[in-house]
Amino acid sequence: MSSFEYLPYEDGTQIARQIEGYPRSFTRTPSQPLIRRPTTLSELTGPIGLERKLKIGFEDGRRAMGQLIAVEGRVTDEDGAPMANAVIEIWQANSAGKYIHELDRHDAPVDPNFTGQGRLLSDAEGRFQFRTIKPGAYPVMESDWWWRPPHIHFSIFGPSWMNRFVTQVFFPGEPLNETDLLLNGVEDREARERLVFQLGATQVGAVNMLKYRRDFVLRGRHRTPALD
Ligand SMILES: [Fe+2]
Repeated sequence: MSSFEYLPYEDGTQIARQIEGYPRSFTRTPSQPLIRRPTTLSELTGPIGLERKLKIGFEDGRRAMGQLIAVEGRVTDEDGAPMANAVIEIWQANSAGKYIHELDRHDAPVDPNFTGQGRLLSDAEGRFQFRTIKPGAYPVMESDWWWRPPHIHFSIFGPSWMNRFVTQVFFPGEPLNETDLLLNGVEDREARERLVFQLGATQVGAVNMLKYRRDFVLRGRHRTPALD
């Protein structure tokens, strides 16, 4: 199948549109069934040259507080072909579970050395890597019980708007993974596992950090679930 033909998503591998106990899920997803419309050439072939139009990279600065980690992975299409030059945007809370955002009301400190965002490109083999600190957990303020487990947000632009997807990736072994309404809003267990980093081999060396890996498949049977 050509990567320019797209099957509809299987519901069980995607986040539930409405989640009990999460009021926002009732207001930001359509309550009516979606209307099918044919894809046009502009959706299938653009955007072009994003890597030239957007600033790529991270803020340089002093080391942020927290557990230094390295994250790597590969972006492929459903046939396993590498997605070169995919624009990957990441954002995350700092090690205290705080975002630099006007709507973040969590009473936790901002780290002056950590913006929590960056943009990078996959290479010719679809590979990407970056260093960051492990984000902290944070409470969902609309709820009196729910804490989000540590996670990193990803947005990936492949070669067309139809490949663009947004998700969150979680850390293995975190107790809060068991109760997170978003992660568990994905019904299919194997699909949920595709939202969790794999811990790489632990080593002690000149620069000490834990290594995590997450490969992304855009579209297809083994695709990474979207989670916004
Ligand atoms: Fe988040």
